[in-house]
Amino acid sequence: MKKIRLAVLVSGRGSNLQSIIDNIEAGKLDAQIACVISDVENAQALERAKKHKLEALFIDPQGKVKEDYYSEIAKELEKRGVELVILAGFMRIVPPSFLKKFENVVINIHPSLLPSFPGLHAQKQALDAGTKETGCTVHFATPDVDGGPIIVQQPVEVWEDDDEETLSKRILAEEHKLLPKAIQLMAENRILIQGKHVLINWKDFEDKWK
Ligand code: GRF
Repeated sequence: MKKIRLAVLVSGRGSNLQSIIDNIEAGKLDAQIACVISDVENAQALERAKKHKLEALFIDPQGKVKEDYYSEIAKELEKRGVELVILAGFMRIVPPSFLKKFENVVINIHPSLLPSFPGLHAQKQALDAGTKETGCTVHFATPDVDGGPIIVQQPVEVWEDDDEETLSKRILAEEHKLLPKAIQLMAENRILIQGKHVLINWKDFEDKWK
């Protein structure tokens, strides 16, 4: 199968990037990473990319107008024929102009069951709210931050003795499975967006992703 060309945008640790890399290397994902782009120079994610001989770009946002910054990123993506952009812990709000240019091909991973707990510190928000269940979501990025059409979600139980760290850790383990699954669905062209709704053709989608 043809491999979908990915760009992964990151700002920090890059454990979700790592899970994409590992799934590609294990032959589970029909994808290749065209480049990893970070807005933070010393992001651990860039080190992970280099370790796997991937192109790792630091694009400095300092002193740039937002639109110019994203045009710079867009140019790098276009140069490399990127087909799907993954926001994997990219700690910036992507402007509408960029999302329009890459319409329906920018996806984000968020550590809650959206629409609950959008924004920062989603795990702490879930704990503070006393919810019994939270989880993670992969969705299309739209100008409505954390509000775009939902592709897939995975619930995670909240335990009475959880703190932010323990809960985040269990959610993260699920993120590492959910994001590659969403990418594979995109790679296999199984996704149809209808307004707020994402229709998925699950027929014969391999057991390994269920
Ligand atoms: C993840 O929890 C992701 O859901 C959120 O930012 C975190 C990134 O973690 N958007 P990592 O950099 O992938 O380890």
